Amino acid sequence: MSAATDAVAGPRPVVLELSPYVPGKSIAEVQRDLGIKTVVKLASNENPYGASPKAIAAFKRTAKALHLYPEGPSPILRRALAMDLNLPDGSIIVGNGSDEIIRLLCEAFLEPGDEVVVSRYGFIRFRQQARLMNAVVVEVPEQQWRHDLPAMARAVTPRTKLVFIANPNNPTGTYNTEREVREFLGAIPASTVAVFDEAYEPYARALEDYPASLPRLATEFANCVVVRTFSKIHGLAALRVGYGAASPQIVGWLDRIRMPFNVGIPAQEACLAAMADASFLRQTLKKTLAERAALAKALRGLGLRVGESAANFLFVALPKPGREIFEHLLAEGVIIRPLDEYGLPRHVRITVGTSSQNRRLLKALSSILR
Ligand SMILES: Cc1ncc(COP(=O)(O)O)c(C=O)c1O
Repeated sequence: MSAATDAVAGPRPVVLELSPYVPGKSIAEVQRDLGIKTVVKLASNENPYGASPKAIAAFKRTAKALHLYPEGPSPILRRALAMDLNLPDGSIIVGNGSDEIIRLLCEAFLEPGDEVVVSRYGFIRFRQQARLMNAVVVEVPEQQWRHDLPAMARAVTPRTKLVFIANPNNPTGTYNTEREVREFLGAIPASTVAVFDEAYEPYARALEDYPASLPRLATEFANCVVVRTFSKIHGLAALRVGYGAASPQIVGWLDRIRMPFNVGIPAQEACLAAMADASFLRQTLKKTLAERAALAKALRGLGLRVGESAANFLFVALPKPGREIFEHLLAEGVIIRPLDEYGLPRHVRITVGTSSQNRRLLKALSSILR
């Protein structure tokens, strides 16, 4: 038989079990498919106020160096982050989005059959990456939509390598307190690594009982890893930069398997400038929190159940299937996020937009629900 008629080599069986990640619909896609000019995207928890002008300027300045490879480990950004978080040198790894850090953790720690503990409605990427490594995903139910950390600790066995906790969680918007987190870390064995994904931490930081500094906890507990991103409050989702804070030993292991030039120069430079623009971050936070309260109130006024959110999105229960509402809103040029893939067909997630974006959403939604 010639090579042309032979069956093509197949992937590992687990690859066929997985589906591609379903991202929020893009503005370009809706413009193209529905011919709508002005589309409002409230589906991916981006910063509706854009990026800091200083970050944009730093990005532009790098145009003259596009022919050069970046410094592979992003050393200046690592050092700036370590300083900012008051961590020892060697405690930070920078990735192509925090997604890369999640993937590296799974690749570094998981053998087939190892267990990974997640919560039932925890961020979906954790289980997808764990399955790719043929790990067994152990789901623990939430308590009132919050991670049940004592139950998650009880689910840990000698085969559990990783526990993933998004704090605040996407899509529920709930969070766990400093006390709960400390008790959890005290309860699990050193052989299990606890990964806290703090993509939305900047929106929760001011809450009185929110953990003061999870990255600092990674210096107290050698099995604690914290993952953060520049895609949300920093407004740099297009550049794909995230980072992990962990013991230098864990960072060293992840560095062995990281792609050599995983974050480009424009991205590194824009992140450095974005971190330094405290006033932009403060303004974004202030506007987002005010808009979040107003949007939640207006949605409740439409008779919807809206969860208390510690992030820049709202978790909303609906009287009809979420996909139906999503399709209706799409036809009006407003993109939200249905949650069928989470097994939540009657919930949706709505990013808090600017006041005019939120008004447009509310106008469309009130006529759909009428
Ligand atoms: C909880 C959580 N973690 C990680 C990510 C991925 O972010 P990044 O853009 O850094 O890959 C997201 C994105 O929505 C998220 O919600």
